[in-house]
Order: sequence, then C-alpha cells, then structure tokens
Amino acid sequence: MRVLPDAEAASRAAAEEVMWIGRAAVAERGRFTVALSGGSTPRRMLEMLAEPPLRERLDWSRVDVFFADERAVPPDHSDSNFRLAHETLLSKLEIPEAQIHRMEAERSDLLHAAADYEAALRRVLRAPAGGPPPVLDLIHLGLGRDGHTASLFPGADKVLEERSLVAVTRAPDGGLRLTLTPTVLNHAAHVLFLVTEGEKAERLAEVLEGPRDVRRLPAQAVCPVRGTLLWIIDREAARDLRSPPPG
Ligand code: 6PG
Repeated sequence: MRVLPDAEAASRAAAEEVMWIGRAAVAERGRFTVALSGGSTPRRMLEMLAEPPLRERLDWSRVDVFFADERAVPPDHSDSNFRLAHETLLSKLEIPEAQIHRMEAERSDLLHAAADYEAALRRVLRAPAGGPPPVLDLIHLGLGRDGHTASLFPGADKVLEERSLVAVTRAPDGGLRLTLTPTVLNHAAHVLFLVTEGEKAERLAEVLEGPRDVRRLPAQAVCPVRGTLLWIIDREAARDLRSPPPG
C-alpha cells in the first residue's frame, strides 16, 4: 500500500505504476494487456497517462486495452466507462482499433455480450476455453462507497463464485452492468487499486482491516493467486486506517 498526500499525487503515482508495469510487459513479451475501471476517480490518472512525460514512456502501439466493467449504456453516454477512457486517454494515443476491447454493454442481450467479451479475452490472451483463466498484465480497480469493485456489488454473492470470466450484474441503482469476475481479477499479474477522497475512508478501513466478508465487501474478493496487489490511496481515504504505511 502507498499513501500519497492528496488525490492528485495518488493519481500520478498510479499513472506511473501503470507506465512501469506496461514498460516491463512490453520489454518482456512485446505487449501490455491492461483492464481499466471507470467512475470518477480514474480521470486524472488517465489524463496523466496521455500527457508528457508518461505518454512517451510507454509504446502504446503495443497495448491491448480491456475494461474491468461497463454500464449498460451506449459508448457515448456520460455514464460509459469506455467514454471516460476514450475522452481522457484512448482518443489521444495511437492504439490500433483492434487493440481496444470495448465491453458492448449497450446490447439488448447482455448474456451474449458477456460471452463475446469472454471469447475476446481468451483469444487475445491466448487462453483457450476449458483451460486456465487468461492472465492480464494489469487490472486497475476502484472502490465504491459500498465496498464494491468493478461491478461486483454487495449481496451479489453468486457472481463471486462464477467460473465465467465476464458476468452480468445489477447495480444498486438498478442499472445493468457487465463485469470481469474474481476469476479474472485474481489471475492478473498485477492488480492496482486507486482510491481517493474521505468518503471512501470508512469502507476502505473495513475492506483492508475488517473481518473478511466478501458478500458485504466484494473488494475483499480481490486476492491475486500469484500476482501483486497494490493499493494507492490518498491521505483522506487512509484516514480511518489503524496503521497506514508511509507514502
Ligand atoms: C464503475 C467502476 C467502479 C468504480 C467505483 C468507484 O463502473 O463505476 O468501475 O467499480 O471503480 O464505483 O467509483 P468512483 O471512482 O466514481 O468513486
């Protein structure tokens, strides 16, 4: 865990972490596969990745961009996670269209859209059906005030046991979502949570220091099998932690 003075510093630390993991993946295997989350927290991190100096530090033509989850809205809708990534990052970089893997959550048949996304993950990551889960180099996650991450919401315990890679869930506001399941999240080489603002402090302390209760706190279901797990938080979000480490 790293605690930074404020949201801007935490966003910069997260953007640098994405860049370093990306550079190492490209150096080792010639490509970098990353899944991004949406919401409001990632905006500054994504903007920083699209600007100098970080922009030039990663060969974006080698990057495959996936999404951790998506709302059941068109890609140009203000709630769309794709739209957030597109307007802050993807529209500013030369990433081949075929390497941007959008979750088609606007489709009427979401189960089919989930199956198609699972097939894309397996194809791009060379993880054939029936075999072990695909390994993304990096999955970026946020934390909801209710303890959700991606679109794994409290009470939706069935999805926490899913062997599938992509599931359909319903947010507390009733909106349908597509989401990566813990099966994918926990096989990533690196998982990075970026959590800022005091409104998350109480829940963050429960997730990190409270009793394990994945039904109530789905973010606790994220325990990479072999990968690294890094929480980048700001001082406000760390406020209720019993023992925050140095930044
Ligand atoms: C989404 C995100 C979600 C997000 C949390 C935190 O689709 O909303 O993927 O999991 O990370 O809800 O959202 P904020 O950054 O807006 O607080």
